[in-house]
Amino acid sequence: LWIVDKNVDNIQSYPQIIEAAHLLAKNEVVAFPTETVYGLGANARSEEAVKKVFEAKGRPNDNPLIVHIASQSQLEEIVMDIPPIAKQLMDAFWPGPLTLILKQKPGTLAAAVTAGLDTVAVRMPDHAVARQLIEASGLPIAAPSANTSGKPSPTLAKHVQDDLYGRIAGIVDGGPTGVGVESTVLDCTEDIPIILRPGGVTKEQLETIIGPVKEDRAFVKKDEAPKAPGMKYTHYAPKAPLILVKGENAFIQQLINERRAEGMKVGLLAASEHQALYEADYIVAPGSLAELSTVASGLYDALRQFDDVHVDIIYSEVFPEAGIGQAIMNRLCKAAGQQMIEQ
Ligand code: TXA
Ligand code: MG
Repeated sequence: LWIVDKNVDNIQSYPQIIEAAHLLAKNEVVAFPTETVYGLGANARSEEAVKKVFEAKGRPNDNPLIVHIASQSQLEEIVMDIPPIAKQLMDAFWPGPLTLILKQKPGTLAAAVTAGLDTVAVRMPDHAVARQLIEASGLPIAAPSANTSGKPSPTLAKHVQDDLYGRIAGIVDGGPTGVGVESTVLDCTEDIPIILRPGGVTKEQLETIIGPVKEDRAFVKKDEAPKAPGMKYTHYAPKAPLILVKGENAFIQQLINERRAEGMKVGLLAASEHQALYEADYIVAPGSLAELSTVASGLYDALRQFDDVHVDIIYSEVFPEAGIGQAIMNRLCKAAGQQMIEQ
């Protein structure tokens, strides 16, 4: 574990980043911070390196990885042609939490990165440590979130350590990540781009730049096969069952009381504004309804906290679905395996 300042501007003062870059160049895997979540990086040109990522995470190999780049020239090296709409989005949101699916230039990446698809997911992260590390390695870096497959993504180096210690070559610790939910995945290979995974850049933000975008129905409805292979897996789940509740505070409290009367230890995830209204065995407030981005930042740490305190069941309030709320509710619904109680 190497600790570095998240605002690092002069890489020479951080031998840790140079060391991590050397490990990447030697086809080892290293976790590093981005503005969304920690990623588990590997040389995207090396089958050997990419295989280590899948093994460390226990990730199904039909689930392709995002390639992280730090420059325009790295982009041109791996994609065929860049549609004008994609260009506009890059100008508006890169570096940032937007992943674009583009046609891949054959033979430029290890086959396992794209799981045999003819497209590739690319993003330029908005985090000084990530950018410096990619630049220092001189490589396109394939990086999924640095969690064990199925667990909430890591927003602190400690989360990576809890999941992957002993299975990877190192962790660059740049403190808490910021956005807290993963990048938006947007398929730009169709005439009208399609959101495959809601994330850090909202649908509203995309539409102000390029007009209407579509959404993959599968991330809204459970019973359709999603176009992003990763979206079909249960994800982000804490150990105890999580149930979303759409209803008044008193209704939620009543459910908590019923379970406690049955002898269960009950956890609750609620907005900070409501925290004091409840009584439960363990209450976590990831953030505030007045500023939904704070809920996104704290969401995965909140879900992980329930594992540490060993609750038997977790109830969660629901959050408004506008803006970043769409990504928040997408992750909560997945963590809950779509279980929702409505008053
Ligand atoms: O914010 C993020 O995106 C983080 C940080 C580390 O950059 N990374 C991340 O990666 O969330 P991962 O592997 O956990 O999620 C990548 C998603 C998966 O749902 C995967 O199926 C989808 O992107 N994906 C990757 N390549 C694809 C492709 N060629 N076509 C469609 N979906 C793709
Ligand atoms: Mg992930």
